[in-house]
Amino acid sequence: MNRRRFARIAGSAMVAAGIGYPLARGFRGSTSAGSLLVSDPPLPPPFQIDLPIPQVLQPMRQDHDIDYYEIVQKVAKAAILPGVDTEIWGYNGTFPGPTIVTQRGRKAVIRHTNRLPVPTVVHLHGGRNLPADDGFPIDFVYPKGSTPESVSGFEHDMTTGNTSFGIRDYVYTLDQPAATLWYHDHRMDFTGPSIWKGLAGFHLHHDAIEKALGLPAGNRDLPLMITDRSFATDGSFHYPSLDQSLHTLPGVDQRYMAGVLGDVILVNGAPWPIAHVSGNLYRLRLLNASNARRYRLALDPPPSSGNGLVQIGSDGGLLPAPIPHDAIDIAPAERFDVIVDFSRYPAGSKVTLINEFGTGSTSKVMQFAIGTREPETAKVPKTLADVPTLTRGDAVTTRTLQFRQGDVGKMRGWTINGEPFSPDHVHATVQGGTTEIWRLMGDFHHPIHIHLNPFQVLSRGLNGPGAFDRGWKDTIDLRPAEQAEIIIPFAKMPGKYVFHCHTLEHEDMAMMANFVVK
Ligand code: C2O
Ligand code: CU
Repeated sequence: MNRRRFARIAGSAMVAAGIGYPLARGFRGSTSAGSLLVSDPPLPPPFQIDLPIPQVLQPMRQDHDIDYYEIVQKVAKAAILPGVDTEIWGYNGTFPGPTIVTQRGRKAVIRHTNRLPVPTVVHLHGGRNLPADDGFPIDFVYPKGSTPESVSGFEHDMTTGNTSFGIRDYVYTLDQPAATLWYHDHRMDFTGPSIWKGLAGFHLHHDAIEKALGLPAGNRDLPLMITDRSFATDGSFHYPSLDQSLHTLPGVDQRYMAGVLGDVILVNGAPWPIAHVSGNLYRLRLLNASNARRYRLALDPPPSSGNGLVQIGSDGGLLPAPIPHDAIDIAPAERFDVIVDFSRYPAGSKVTLINEFGTGSTSKVMQFAIGTREPETAKVPKTLADVPTLTRGDAVTTRTLQFRQGDVGKMRGWTINGEPFSPDHVHATVQGGTTEIWRLMGDFHHPIHIHLNPFQVLSRGLNGPGAFDRGWKDTIDLRPAEQAEIIIPFAKMPGKYVFHCHTLEHEDMAMMANFVVK
């Protein structure tokens, strides 16, 4: 019925299996929380497969201000490694799922049909939506064919939530600035394995301000979903779920409780792909959709005068002005929109997107093969979008939230202010239309994500925001033993929402909590 049940089942399984509490990795000095899950087969050579670009989903119908889409969640086969198929769970059977493209001023209604063997929940990450459409973790869509009378087999997912059977329409008003959003599964206790199996896709939202800027567009606007995975010899994904069927028993083998790290880096579902680009400006929408891995992304070789990655956008949309970087740190769920000027490289050369936090196979991400320069139609504007700077004086209250390892029933898990997630317990009641400061503290790497409202980073330790904290954020890369302050203007959208760690093994093992907007 709820988290207590999780604690009881998982706790007794732990005790029965005699698994103790291992010291999870991820302390200070590490770059990610988690343990490496090694693939069985030899890994393919990098930069052989062309970068796939997910299909843009076409609406089934449109009326004057609404576009209607349909997605079927299903089991499918994908060709990821050479010579073998990988079973995935995909939106429309693909990984990543189809890209949804929307315009501010039009609503989108996405009809999801669940043909998977388990209940699912869809969350539009970065979307400002009312609770019924936000994908609250117990608002399950039970598999097609199930009815309120026949949900047996899903005892773990019996819920008091706002559930549906087979089909659910998610209504997105999308009255928010242009941004790189993404959608993914959010089923309580099982988000990690569901996303690992493939339930994630891009949602690119546009507006008139962005359009007027003349940024690179069309095939020079590349969404890049970066994930790490681990494979068995038959091509299937490895993931250390205690219950491989994801039916009853949540959680992972305790050796991986700090996070599951794969040794194969996929971009848009392909291992270390290569993209053929012209010597022009490109917009790269970097999304870290990995369960636990953090990356430090850089171009190798860097362009002659450095600053190869010019950031124009953050999680919640465009920055006030571009920020040049040599490297970008990206934690799970974060997005960085960057412009790369490939005319700074000679035609015929190759430049690799590397991960300076990685070693061996995880130190490379993908490659760009540079072709000749074509007429340039885009530019990097000096200023981008209006982003008001929030200050302490705007806030009516300050709350302190601790993100730490702790007891979840009889097992070790992850807690917020000492509490494991319960769908009913409310940590914070906020007044819509007011602004609050939340002071976040953690023991490990915890990328903290708050639903509904984008926020700004006020401080890290004794310093101001970090180099990667600018603009509207919805996820902050909280680092071990660090204290950070964020300032959040709450929208007048009443109801109950979650905030949680986006290291998915932490989220699934209870590092999630509710806030209510009044
Ligand atoms: Cu991307 Cu609550 O999640
Ligand atoms: Cu965490």
